[in-house]
Amino acid sequence: MNTSAACSVVNDFSRNGWSNGDRSREWCAELESGKILLFDGVPFDLPAADREFLLSQKQAESRFHKNISYRPTTDVLRGIANESPDREHMQDVMRRYSKQVVEFVKSFLAPYAKDFQLDYASFRPLEEQSRDLALHKRNDLLHVDAFPTRPTRGARILRVFTNINPSVDRVWTTGEPFHRMAPKLAEAAGVKRYADPSLADRFVYSMQSAGHKVGLPVPTRARYDRFMLHFHDWLKENAEFQATSPKVRTDFSPGCTWLVYTDGVPHAVLSGQYVLEQTFIIPQRALCAAERSPLLVLEQICNASMSS
Ligand SMILES: [Fe+2]
Repeated sequence: MNTSAACSVVNDFSRNGWSNGDRSREWCAELESGKILLFDGVPFDLPAADREFLLSQKQAESRFHKNISYRPTTDVLRGIANESPDREHMQDVMRRYSKQVVEFVKSFLAPYAKDFQLDYASFRPLEEQSRDLALHKRNDLLHVDAFPTRPTRGARILRVFTNINPSVDRVWTTGEPFHRMAPKLAEAAGVKRYADPSLADRFVYSMQSAGHKVGLPVPTRARYDRFMLHFHDWLKENAEFQATSPKVRTDFSPGCTWLVYTDGVPHAVLSGQYVLEQTFIIPQRALCAAERSPLLVLEQICNASMSS
């Protein structure tokens, strides 16, 4: 079992529910403050046959893209060829997985149950070590997550991971949580320019917004989203941050499950293969420690609203 300082091990919740009273608010607040919540196992139903099916795909890797993604709200599967004989089976497995994680989160993190927005699930079948990727796409550099095509306007990105590899750890490093890291770095990264854009930038943003309104495929981003996208890249480009910022190594053992706000915990994936993941978007109104959210931390640094 992992004992990294980045993690809090959850021993009081299982598939049977709470063993010692409902502590969902406390766990939400820990998560929102930058802890990774770790289960020594899978706290929801994940049938052995489904795991075996996913692992068997290693023989057929070339049929897949980097990730298989599943959109639960529309039941759409991406990342596997339409003509693949495994496509329907994969869709069934991902649908089942996503439903089970949703039920688990509704129960374990009850304060989010009414308000979360369900995002994509994914299966990541490739070995992470030594992948040859462009700098901004590299997973082995510390970064916080921001979605280019799905702006959150300050809602948070919560992810649930399960390492389904039967014998190999998934290895991350993680850095200081956002509320400690951002006050040291956000100004150097230019956050005040994003909080108070120039007239020229405002003009570009209003054009994008107008384009979005008439149906062009342009996301409408808030000041927050624009800064977080920039910060993701800025952190990966920053050799000094990568080399000298405080960080800890965390080994996620075979079969374990962990939850983390990846917009607030700088993370890098060093190695591992075969992870399942479901993303949730948690709006500000559902948070239990909103003052630790990247949106409010940045607004405090800038003394300005960034949610529009
Ligand atoms: Fe990430």
